[in-house]
Amino acid sequence: MQVPPPGPKARKIIEKDSQFLATTTKTLPLAVRRAKGSVVEDVDGNRYIDFTCGIAVTNLGHVNDEIREAVEAQLADMWHMAGTDFYYQVQVDLAETLARLTPGDFRKKVFFTNSGTESIEAGIKLARWNRPGKQFLAFLNGFHGRTMGSLALTSSKGVQRERFFPLMPGGNLVPYSYCYRCPYRLTYPDCDIWCAQVIEDQYLRKVVPPSELAGLVFEPVQGEGGYVVPPPGWTEEIARIAKEHDILLIADEVQTGLGRTGRMFAVEHAGVAPDAVAIAKGLGSGLPIGALVFNADLDFGVSGAHSNTFGGNPLACASALATLRILEEQNLPDRAARLGERMHGRLEELKEDWPLMGDNRGLGLMRATEFVKEGGGKEPAVKERDAILKEALRRGLILLPSGTSVIRYIPALTIEEDLFEVGMDILADSIRVVSKAS
Ligand SMILES: Cc1ncc(COP(=O)(O)O)c(C=O)c1O
Repeated sequence: MQVPPPGPKARKIIEKDSQFLATTTKTLPLAVRRAKGSVVEDVDGNRYIDFTCGIAVTNLGHVNDEIREAVEAQLADMWHMAGTDFYYQVQVDLAETLARLTPGDFRKKVFFTNSGTESIEAGIKLARWNRPGKQFLAFLNGFHGRTMGSLALTSSKGVQRERFFPLMPGGNLVPYSYCYRCPYRLTYPDCDIWCAQVIEDQYLRKVVPPSELAGLVFEPVQGEGGYVVPPPGWTEEIARIAKEHDILLIADEVQTGLGRTGRMFAVEHAGVAPDAVAIAKGLGSGLPIGALVFNADLDFGVSGAHSNTFGGNPLACASALATLRILEEQNLPDRAARLGERMHGRLEELKEDWPLMGDNRGLGLMRATEFVKEGGGKEPAVKERDAILKEALRRGLILLPSGTSVIRYIPALTIEEDLFEVGMDILADSIRVVSKAS
């Protein structure tokens, strides 16, 4: 580290940003100059280890050389031709690969988008297109995006919805499976996964009859809601309910997908094959691309029912194809599983000394700690969480918050082992410093 962030050059950018850019979700004063692999350099010459991947996007490291070469080759040929209106090789090749990699032994089709929220919108439209019912079931504390359809299914923070009503009608939210803070004050496994059963037992009987429902949209692990991992059996039960009542099962794998959790898709941990899988974030390794991959029987089949301009952009498709090839060739989901176990071990050791660490959880390299005040009451330690984020940045580790008082750890699946360990050391030091001060 050269200067404590933000240094003088960063401060200038931050000032101009606040003058000209809309307010969004920026949490840390980091102005990036360049990034390579798992190392990010800021405009003042500080170098950091990246445990964020630009919010779970650059999962194969920043400026991955093989991906760069694939994009440069495409750049020389064609940048744009409207993949929804014309035909080209890289788009059909990517669709074929996604159809093969997503769970489910049935014929699939792909609709290309430019973001996660747009993939969810496509799922919403596909469900309404195919079912007489027009309502949706989704989960409290979930995040599916901020456009008006997705927003009706999103509720990880009140600020996302406030002043934006009326939302799309038909978004019915039920409690998620959050064992650390069970909404029913039950304990797994004695609970018999009541949080899933209650859907059939109460909601479908009394709130929204299955005939009114088009789709059930869920995250296999809640991302923005605080990296909440359901217990074994929950996803299977959700899938059973959807199937039994003929409701389209739409898995939002925007954050969990593409190897992050130790499997190519997180639903594979439960052996579930959804009717549609929403993807984005890591697909293009940083070039904007998303996709909805769905059972081919559900295709719109009518020209103009759903389309866009930029979906399947050739550069983004080339990046995505290279990303998927590397993920498979290097068996990166397995590596994520292995490194994730190691990370969990280190976090659990640390937790023995620091009660601020309420809960360590996650799958693969999608991990997090929920920070709580001392005293056993699980009161969210928001200030302390924020202080750890700042302390880590000052020491050269980039982290992101999640949920109310959670920090997520999402390094690249390709991170070098020594960098990974140094990152964990900085994290441990930052937690120690803030714990001692609190
Ligand atoms: C699970 C999930 N779904 C959807 C989205 C929305 O993606 P985007 O920000 O690309 O619209 C996100 C973004 O964080 C997400 O985590």
